[in-house]
Amino acid sequence: MSYSIIGFGAVGQALARAFARQNLEVTVASRRTPEALASQARATGASVSPATLRDALQADVIFLAVPFREHVAVAETLPDWQGKTVIDATNAYGVPVEELGGLPSSAVVAKAFAGAKFVKGFNHLPAGLLAADPRVDGGRRVVFLAGDNDSAMPPVAALAERLGFAPVRLGKLAEGGALVQARGHEWAPLIFQDLVKPD
Ligand SMILES: NC(=O)c1ccc[n+]([C@@H]2O[C@H](COP(=O)([O-])OP(=O)(O)OC[C@H]3O[C@@H](n4cnc5c(N)ncnc54)[C@H](OP(=O)(O)O)[C@@H]3O)[C@@H](O)[C@H]2O)c1
Repeated sequence: MSYSIIGFGAVGQALARAFARQNLEVTVASRRTPEALASQARATGASVSPATLRDALQADVIFLAVPFREHVAVAETLPDWQGKTVIDATNAYGVPVEELGGLPSSAVVAKAFAGAKFVKGFNHLPAGLLAADPRVDGGRRVVFLAGDNDSAMPPVAALAERLGFAPVRLGKLAEGGALVQARGHEWAPLIFQDLVKPD
């Protein structure tokens, strides 16, 4: 299984740090060249490699850590998303609800990545907390996962565990998933909740 993170800003770097902590190989990409990302990737960890966007999208499992509206450009980079798993860590805070056609923002992103196994997740914590070691206070920091594809969820939950987090499955995007979605200028109730599951 290969992994990549698209977007290497606050959230992309936080996710990359989680991979580095486990010495798990991950490629990272943005619109910048791999050379431009190299020193930050090196500083994040030995298992973090910069790549072009196209190369990073060859991975089996792809984290999306770009500003919400940029998901379109990423989705258009590949002609076909069959066989890929996409984990959407974006938030659409401040995006007018009308722009989303009344849908949860993750449903809009899922449509753009049609064919992929799509999971919303790793999006509810501020990047600083997401970057921190998830093993805290005799437990593990919770990340929430939501999605409409039942078969996508177990491997993503297993990855979250491998990265040291305690995954909590919320169910479908428009159901439990609504608890971790920004809508207009409102944050959903589970966003920013820093929860720890005791061991
Ligand atoms: N910051 C937080 O605490 C936080 C927490 C949870 C979720 N989120 C969500 O996570 C997402 C990323 O937030 P962030 O704070 O990490 O943003 P950020 O620091 O601005 O980083 C965004 C990254 O995306 C890259 N990017 C932008 N457009 C791209 C494109 N078309 N293709 C590839 N890469 C692209 C940018 O790099 P280049 O300019 O080099 O392309 C940059 O590396 C947002 O949707 C945000 O709402 C943020």
